[in-house]
Amino acid sequence: MSDEATVITVSQQKGGAGKTTLSAHLAVALADGGKTSVGLLDSDPQGSLGEWFEAREERFGEEKAGLGFRTSSGWGVRREIRALGRDHDMVVVDTPPKAEMDVRPALGAADLVIVPVQPTPVDLWATSRTLEIAKLERVPVLIVLTRVPPRAKLTGEIAEALQELSANLAETRLGNRTGFASSMGSGLTITESERSSKGADEVRALAAEVRAFLASN
Ligand SMILES: Nc1ncnc2c1ncn2[C@@H]1O[C@H](COP(=O)(O)OP(=O)(O)O)[C@@H](O)[C@H]1O
Ligand SMILES: [Mg+2]
Repeated sequence: MSDEATVITVSQQKGGAGKTTLSAHLAVALADGGKTSVGLLDSDPQGSLGEWFEAREERFGEEKAGLGFRTSSGWGVRREIRALGRDHDMVVVDTPPKAEMDVRPALGAADLVIVPVQPTPVDLWATSRTLEIAKLERVPVLIVLTRVPPRAKLTGEIAEALQELSANLAETRLGNRTGFASSMGSGLTITESERSSKGADEVRALAAEVRAFLASN
């Protein structure tokens, strides 16, 4: 517990990019079975992360879900981040598919912005405004390729284009795996539902990479 919680905001203007999936998976992986206390903030009025968290509480019971959880929208974000930061070492913030005023407070309050990008041109185009806002707020960005199909030439091309955006591209990629979606349905993440799967390895590697990035930035 500390007043100086590390805040990670997951943001990307495009809907369906994988923000909510990444937020839940990262939060559980960073918590590492309770070694780190992690609070989650759902700032998307759609409330998908909240539904996942409710399924999680039903499964484990309120005390044992292993994560703190709050919701907020608009300018309430900063207040809720502070509140979670008082009781947790880390705060992970999920955001709505927007890049303007609605998400700016969540980006501004972050120590690190993580931007999930699917390896397609349309997803690449949608990324630039989120990067600009993070830059205005002077917050470092880590781009994470997600839903990556096996052996697609396009993925390499998109990765190259992303590297030219003067943002940091995570070495770890998340594959296009049904386990990411199905685990969420039962209030879990893939590291809990399929502990020794490729997807679980990817998530643990990403959490380690995020920790290393935070330590060096
Ligand atoms: N790595 C992945 N592999 C397979 N499906 C994924 C992956 N990441 C996300 N999805 C699926 O893509 C859809 C959109 O993901 P979601 O996390 O809700 O995106 P967002 O929050 O950006 O709208 C969901 O159906 C989710 O299950
Ligand atoms: Mg979402």
